[in-house]
Amino acid sequence: MVADDKPASTFKYSEKPLYTTSNGCPVENPEAFQRVGSNGPLLLQDFHLIDLLAHFDRERIPERVVHAKGAGAYGEFEVTHDITDISSVDMLSKVGKKTPCVARFSTVGGEKGSPDTARDPRGFSIKFYTDEGNWDWVYNNTPVFFLRDPTKFPLFIHTQKRNPQTNLKDATMFWDYLSTHHEAVHQVMHLFSDRGTPYSYRHMNGYSGHTHKFTKPDGTFNYIQIHLKTDQGSKTFTNDEAGKMASENPDWNTQDLFDSIQKGDYPSWSVYVQVLSPEQAEKFRWNIFDLTKVWPQKEVPLRPFGKFTLNKNVENYFAEIEQVAFSPSHLVPGVEPSADPVLQSRLFSYPDTHRHRLGVNYQQIPVNAPLRAFNPYQRDGLMAVNGNYGANPNYPSSYRNMTYKPVKPTNEHEKWAGAAVSFLSDVTDEDYVQANGLWKVLGRQPGQQDNFVGNVSGHLCAAKEDTRKRTYEMFSKVDADLGRRIAEATERLAPAPTSQAAGSAQSRL
Ligand code: NDP
Ligand code: HEM
Repeated sequence: MVADDKPASTFKYSEKPLYTTSNGCPVENPEAFQRVGSNGPLLLQDFHLIDLLAHFDRERIPERVVHAKGAGAYGEFEVTHDITDISSVDMLSKVGKKTPCVARFSTVGGEKGSPDTARDPRGFSIKFYTDEGNWDWVYNNTPVFFLRDPTKFPLFIHTQKRNPQTNLKDATMFWDYLSTHHEAVHQVMHLFSDRGTPYSYRHMNGYSGHTHKFTKPDGTFNYIQIHLKTDQGSKTFTNDEAGKMASENPDWNTQDLFDSIQKGDYPSWSVYVQVLSPEQAEKFRWNIFDLTKVWPQKEVPLRPFGKFTLNKNVENYFAEIEQVAFSPSHLVPGVEPSADPVLQSRLFSYPDTHRHRLGVNYQQIPVNAPLRAFNPYQRDGLMAVNGNYGANPNYPSSYRNMTYKPVKPTNEHEKWAGAAVSFLSDVTDEDYVQANGLWKVLGRQPGQQDNFVGNVSGHLCAAKEDTRKRTYEMFSKVDADLGRRIAEATERLAPAPTSQAAGSAQSRL
């Protein structure tokens, strides 16, 4: 607070606040510093200069280990259709009910300064400030992912980042991993279709990918997957357009989102749910905990239930978007994670990285703070800035009355039993079926199969020869013609066999 009792950050441009040091001492000239005479050394007593430098030295916090480059805004979710027959989530309890939210979109592999139009999946995260706590949807713009065994996540991500020796993106690392882990091929088909280079964040869909559970107080539940379909229409760049934009305006998607909202052209998404009862899930062809598979829409139709709109830009990017902390474990009564092992691992990983990136009290940062929370048993720690629950007891005291809301259903949902095992999934013929389905979907859209072949070959040609060959074999298992076309197109672009550079060459994307 400053002298006139206003929090310092609330001054408007039209006002003329008194400039002070960080401890509130008025300063005559922010550019002046203290020294001996007009040519001598500086003085340790110059708190203004030393504090300014010391604070500047600490301006950077760790960037997100993945999804470092992103943009976001505020908005709202509105229930458009009644789904109370399957959901007891308070936010979804009534048609017309609105819930405020903040969203962040991102690329995955690049650093904070990397181009927005890189070929990559896009993150699609929303934090809903519901009356019963924050509910985070930490989704992607693809309905599947590269893996179903969580241990592979750090290993896979390393191959999409920089070579430890050259510090370059490395096409051999990239395809070496993918061509030896064929469960990834369905996601690779999405990534190298033109949807791997969306025109903007406003023109892409979002998918939960994982199966979750909608639970009811009577103990019954359904398995669900959520889809957000862009109301702006799906629109993509070609590979060449994306590359051109990367050099002309590397922040294109960030700018597009900000400018649209600023001029009142609010992007929105229609929100749907796919529902399977436990009995249906039991008989389903696909393992519903396998993140590399979709639930075919003809068999499990999309049921509409909401509209999500972004309508307000942030005031301060760092405070509100860099510091926003999403986690699949930020859930509310009525929704639970499924047994999907990748989702289960994510429940741990996100709060863990938030503690590292933002500190143990990350939930106190205004953009992360729930509408109301009362948790006085979590005390102290770095940056406890919310009053630290004052004189409230820090244990369940018999002298302090509290209300406890029974949120757990009374019946058991799922019963698991089995020996503790070391598990790793196998790749089977089933792993190529949905990838083949997508190849056929691309075939229904003029030019999309050609673009796919061009997108893969333009990247794969920089990999070593044996890696390239293994990759042709992988695509041949999806479709023989696809494998042949990729082999032909790639070999036309690949360097001569004698070139020592092949393999360590920087990927072209
Ligand atoms: P359908 O044959 O019933 O419909 C195809 C779906 O594919 C569309 O609904 C659309 O989903 C999506 N799609 C259309 N064009 C593209 C594209 N260029 N790149 C990526 N996706 C596209 O779908 P099925 O459910 O039987 O699945 C067939 C294939 O479609 C799957 O192998 C899967 O890869 C892909 N797909 C399936 C989704 C699902 O949840 N079932 C979701 C997205 C893709 P949308 O309207 O969401 O864009
Ligand atoms: C970001 C881990 C799989 C979507 C992150 C971050 C980590 C992480 C550590 C950085 C978070 C931060 O610093 O705030 C993992 C692990 C995974 C996994 C360990 C698998 C075991 C997935 C999947 C999806 C996904 C399958 C989508 C379905 C996202 C998104 C972000 C993100 C959207 C960006 C969040 C934001 O905007 O702040 N992930 N991830 N991740 N992840 Fe994952």
